[in-house]
Amino acid sequence: MTDPALGAEALRERAVASLITARDRTTLLTGCVDGPELTAQHSPLMSPLVWDLAHIGNQEEQWLLRAVAGHEAIRPEIDTLYDAFEHPRAERPALPLLPPEEARRYAADVRGRALDVLEGAAFHGTRLTEAGFAFGMIAQHEQQHDETMLITHQLRKGPRALTAPDPEPAPLFTGPSDVLVPGGPFTMGTSDEPWALDNERPAHRREVPPFRIDTTPVTNAAYQAFIEDGGYDEPRWWTAEGWAHVRRNSLTAPLFWRRDGRQWLRRRFGVTEVVPSDEPVLHVCWYEADAYARWAGRRLPTEAEWEKAARYDPAGDRSMRYPWGDADPGPEHANLGQRHLRPAPAGSCPAGESPLGVRQLIGDVWEWTASDFLPYPGFRAFPYREYSEVFFGPEYKVLRGGSFAVDPVACRGTFRNWDLPVRRQIFSGFRTARSEEV
Ligand code: AVJ
Ligand code: FE
Repeated sequence: MTDPALGAEALRERAVASLITARDRTTLLTGCVDGPELTAQHSPLMSPLVWDLAHIGNQEEQWLLRAVAGHEAIRPEIDTLYDAFEHPRAERPALPLLPPEEARRYAADVRGRALDVLEGAAFHGTRLTEAGFAFGMIAQHEQQHDETMLITHQLRKGPRALTAPDPEPAPLFTGPSDVLVPGGPFTMGTSDEPWALDNERPAHRREVPPFRIDTTPVTNAAYQAFIEDGGYDEPRWWTAEGWAHVRRNSLTAPLFWRRDGRQWLRRRFGVTEVVPSDEPVLHVCWYEADAYARWAGRRLPTEAEWEKAARYDPAGDRSMRYPWGDADPGPEHANLGQRHLRPAPAGSCPAGESPLGVRQLIGDVWEWTASDFLPYPGFRAFPYREYSEVFFGPEYKVLRGGSFAVDPVACRGTFRNWDLPVRRQIFSGFRTARSEEV
């Protein structure tokens, strides 16, 4: 979020509030388990929580204290420990990391100084501080790690450490299962959203042929029909790579699912429960999403189709910031911000519907798209190549829309996430599309 129309003082207040919201979440995620659980590696895919904590502080130090304010390094020897490129996740537990209390003190020390810098920073003059970009970037960075840490919590064994109220039960969604998005050009990406990251820029025109897209994400009930129909045993639904992957790893259902007689159970943050039929399916990899779509006689939407469905307003012939318009997300629009620890039932949040009637594009589950993660025409890496540029190419698939675990500050109609097609510990789901014959 962060409205392009906001003035410098409103942006400054927004930056303070976003940093505080992020730190409150970080404190909760790292405070609800004890020391040994913070330094343990719960999965080879994830860092120990105490690594995320000090990495958050170290990035904040590098960008807000050193790059923006010109301070000397507080502890120059630790930079390398918290450099994500020097040490792959699997190696991190063996590093001489700051122990939990020291990591907390370090992050708090950096934060105190960063708020002082923020108070006096000019919000114009350099690209880094223009409209408070660096502060917004760091709030987003911390929130992205708060989602990563929530994934670690989901992977961790043992009884639950986190609780949250469930979303409101939704009345059964009775709208059409898909809608037509008319063909024609639309504006993809942004040049004027102040805290948009480099890979969302610049705004450019895209021609998108007419297509149909699901009005809600694919539900557990629909996905179970694919399983019951033998979807995981039928090579014809899978790409060659996808088929090799499901066979090699004996995949038979989404991650965290287990069959119990005639029903499916799942483990969610330490609790085993019956898989709820009306909720968007979660923890599927790209190969599973792609296979389901083929089984359903459809396909995944391209990234451009997804963004057109999420932003295009036919009445005004323009791209909006969100499906519902230009207002920042409120609880009525989308299930975001870890307010709930699960997606809301399909058809929830009518106030967040797009002009064409598509729901839950923002929040609930990250949605796999058919597209590789590639730069837009005119892309320039900013402020560092390792955020996006080094990941561009065919290995990574784009996910859109954000999950229940994403904070509104790190979620927009233009926001792009990416991951390997085998990953499913992330809060990933999907919806399907098909070309409209013309
Ligand atoms: C955008 C979610 C793929 O977690 O690897 C965090 C975000 N980049 N620190 C990631 C990120 C640097 C990134 N994703
Ligand atoms: Fe990071």
